[in-house]
Amino acid sequence: MAVSVQQILQWKQTHQPSHPITMLTAWDVMSGQIVDQAGADIVLVGDSLAMVTLGYDTTLPLTLDDMLICAKAVRRGVKSALLVVDLPFLSYQTSLEEAIHTAGRLLKEAGVQAVKLEGGHQAAVEIVSRLVQWGIPVMGHVGLTPQSVNQLGGFRKQGKSHAGAEQILAEAQALEQAGVFSIVLEHIPADLAGTITKALGIPTIGIGAGIHCDGQVLVTADVLGLSAWQPPFAKAYANLRSQAIEAAQRFCEEVRSGQYPA
Ligand code: KIV
Repeated sequence: MAVSVQQILQWKQTHQPSHPITMLTAWDVMSGQIVDQAGADIVLVGDSLAMVTLGYDTTLPLTLDDMLICAKAVRRGVKSALLVVDLPFLSYQTSLEEAIHTAGRLLKEAGVQAVKLEGGHQAAVEIVSRLVQWGIPVMGHVGLTPQSVNQLGGFRKQGKSHAGAEQILAEAQALEQAGVFSIVLEHIPADLAGTITKALGIPTIGIGAGIHCDGQVLVTADVLGLSAWQPPFAKAYANLRSQAIEAAQRFCEEVRSGQYPA
């Protein structure tokens, strides 16, 4: 059965510790099919695709048009998982109308079921509240928020100071109040993630946030060992980059030596 927003909430609210939520990213039909067939509960078309598959240094250059192309491709590959998409930088921040228009286009044109946006400050909370009022499910994202990389001074761990930790907890609570159905906690101390997870009635999904979250997310290129670089908290479960290079090298050698085609 296809995973729904209600199902994700129920896994936490009916206290099913045996079901930690799994979320993996995808950027095209093939990666969408792979993570869906692997049984991920949620497939995220994350704006990390700007760095992982488009080669930018940050997520900031990604446009709504780029995202629509990728989300539509992933949609064609995902049959069972809940499909969530990131709102790209500067595609929703300038007004509530813009946020509704952008999120609405992603639901209407790409067929995704929910959107994710970064930050838990007042402006972000207002946007979440308005989207939810219009029936658009929203996933929150606090801690390291890559769209604010210039403000944060790099892709650094957040919430290490007492004040920083308090602020992230308050943001997560404000987002829950505004109606998010789950929240990503990125690159924060494990004990802070545990405190937030206990304080909220919605599921937390951690990345670089330790073992106490209700679920975990990783960037699929890192999981597959395809990325040229990966963050310290990521884990590669395969080494496809070197296998792919080797396969391509063998093709070149066999063509040059006349072995292929036979
Ligand atoms: O863009 C992304 O891939 C993300 C995950 C790291 C949560 O936001």
